Parts: sequence; structure tokens; C-alpha cells
Amino acid sequence: MKRILTVLGLLAAIGVMTGLVSYSVTLYRLFCAVTGAGGTPQRVDADTATTSARIVTVFFNTDTAPGLPWRFEPKQRSIRVHLGEQALVFFEATNLSDQPMVGHATFNVTPDKVGIYFKKIQCFCFTEERLGPHEHVEMPVTFYVDPELATDPNTEDVDQITLSYTFFRSARPEGAEDLSRFQSPDPERGALLFANQCSGCHLPDKAKVGPPLGGVVGRKAASVPGYPYSPALAHAGLTWDEATLDRWLAGPQQLVPGVAMPMAVPDAAARRDIIAYLKTLKAATPSAPSPAQAPGASPSSPPPDSKAEGAPRPAG
Ligand code: HEC
Repeated sequence: MKRILTVLGLLAAIGVMTGLVSYSVTLYRLFCAVTGAGGTPQRVDADTATTSARIVTVFFNTDTAPGLPWRFEPKQRSIRVHLGEQALVFFEATNLSDQPMVGHATFNVTPDKVGIYFKKIQCFCFTEERLGPHEHVEMPVTFYVDPELATDPNTEDVDQITLSYTFFRSARPEGAEDLSRFQSPDPERGALLFANQCSGCHLPDKAKVGPPLGGVVGRKAASVPGYPYSPALAHAGLTWDEATLDRWLAGPQQLVPGVAMPMAVPDAAARRDIIAYLKTLKAATPSAPSPAQAPGASPSSPPPDSKAEGAPRPAG
């Protein structure tokens, strides 16, 4: 009997915990689901809430706590929005130090009574965020002010709202996300990463340990004639586009068990930049017949220097 009670107690506890977890995940999604975006301030009508004629001005404040050598500023001082209208604004952060550094933002809305009506749909709040040495990023925040603000007697007079963010040095830097995910793809950085991580096995225009990668974006997997692909990749039925390449680079064995590529790129921003670089690589043109040897050339003369042609080049 005692045992049954214990089991029941445990089940109840698990139930409550599961409830809490899904509840907080929903809250997190609602307030702060982070996805990438870029560009300049713009407004889009929220499709969930009804837009009202009432306009409020939202001001932006930023601060960094001592101990975090970042510059952190709003791209716009303020924005005028209709209640219910979705707004996209940007904040800039620069790591002024020579070290990668992880920060954590908290925010606060004033007047306090408005807090419940200020809905953030996307932001960088609550997450541990890493900036590389001297790295600069623009971070998007999407929000709207609930039209209920106008019907609450407590807040109906409010026409100015201030959103303040403070970045603190993170106490728990492990598992931080890279703020560079907010940056647009950088094929030049991709070329450097390719030279470091891929060029030992891949060249753009000829097979090495791995198949040539010129023109790989848009090409069917395992389709370079004459390259000895693994049966697994040969039968995978994949076509390389941004999405499949991203999954391939994140873990070739996870995407197609049994393939022969023995490495992965765990960092999402690095994968994005490498793929941006791969897009610039054109398919190799069918190899031209080698230049006729000058008559009388010694058969033992060294072959023409071919080093340069395989080097990664940030074309395009
Ligand atoms: C240690 C060697 C090695 C390294 C390093 C390596 N690869 Fe590969 N890669 C291979 C091999 C081998 C294959 C063929 C896999 C098979 O047949 O299963 C391959 C296949 C591929 C393919 C599929 C090509 C096709 O024709 O279907 C892509 C794309 C690719 N690699 C990209 C990369 C990128 C980008 C990097 C650097 C981040 C990289 N690889 C690093 C060995 C390597």
C-alpha cells in the first residue's frame, strides 16, 4: 500500500512538473521566441490582434552593467505605433574586448502598469548570448501593444511607453547562443572557414578525399561522375540546397547514416557562412585538354604549377 502511495505521489509530481514545463515553454514562445531577422525598422500589421486608431510612442533605453565591455544601443530612439500594430525594431551590440563574451539581457517596461499590455513576439531577452571579439550585430525585437490598453481605466491615459534593456555579463556562459545568427550570411567568412575545415578533403574543381564542391548547391547528392561515393550517400536521394546542406554539415551521419564524411560543423552561424560560400562556387567546366607540350621539352620537366587553381576563392 505504502508503495502504491509513493508511486501515485511520484506520478502526481511528474504531472505537475510536466505542466510547469509546458506552461513556461508556451510563455517563452509567446514572449520571446527567437528567430533570425534583419533589415531596417518597419511595421507589419499584427494578424492576431486588431489594430486600433490609438497611437502610442514607444521609447527605447539601453544599458550595460559594469563588467560587460559591450556597446549596446537602440537603432531608433522611439517609434510611434497603433495599438495592436506589430513593430520591428533593432538594437546594436558590439563587443569592445579581445575576448568572446557572453551576456544576458533583462528588460523592463515603464510605466509599470503597462507591462502586461506590452507583448514581445521576438527578442533576444532571457537567453545567454555570445559575441566574438570586436563582433558587431544588429538584433531584432518584434512587439505590439495590446489594444486592451485603451479600455483599462488604469492605463487608458498612457501615450508613452519606455522599453529598457540591460545587458549583464553572464554567470553561466556555457551553452550560449551566438548573436551572429542575426547577421546576414557572410561568404567571405565562409571562404576562410572552408579553407580551414574543408579544403583538406574538398576542392572546388577536382576530387580529393571528398568530391569536388563547385556547383554543389542545386546538384543531386552523389552525382559527380567517377567519384567513389559511399552506397549510403549514393542512395540517399537528396538534392543539395541550403536546408539539406545545413543538416548535412550539422551531422552527416545523422542525416544519412553510413556516409563517409567524418566531420561536422556544430556552429550554426559557421554553417550558414560556409553554405553562402559554397553558393559562390561555380561548377567546374569540363576540363580543357592540357596545353600541348612545347616540342623538345624534356620529359622530366616538372608539371605546370597547379597549386593556385584549387585554392578557395570568394567569387561572386
Ligand atoms: C576528412 C575529409 C572531409 C572533410 C574535412 C570534409 N569532407 Fe565533405 N565529404 C568527404 C567525403 C569522403 C565525402 C563523400 C561522402 C560519401 O560518399 O558518403 C564528402 C561529401 C561531401 C558533400 C556531398 C557532395 C556530393 O557530391 O554529394 C558535401 C556537400 C560536403 N562533403 C561538404 C563539406 C564541407 C562544406 C566541409 C567543410 C565544412 C567538408 N565537407 C569537410 C570528406 C570530407
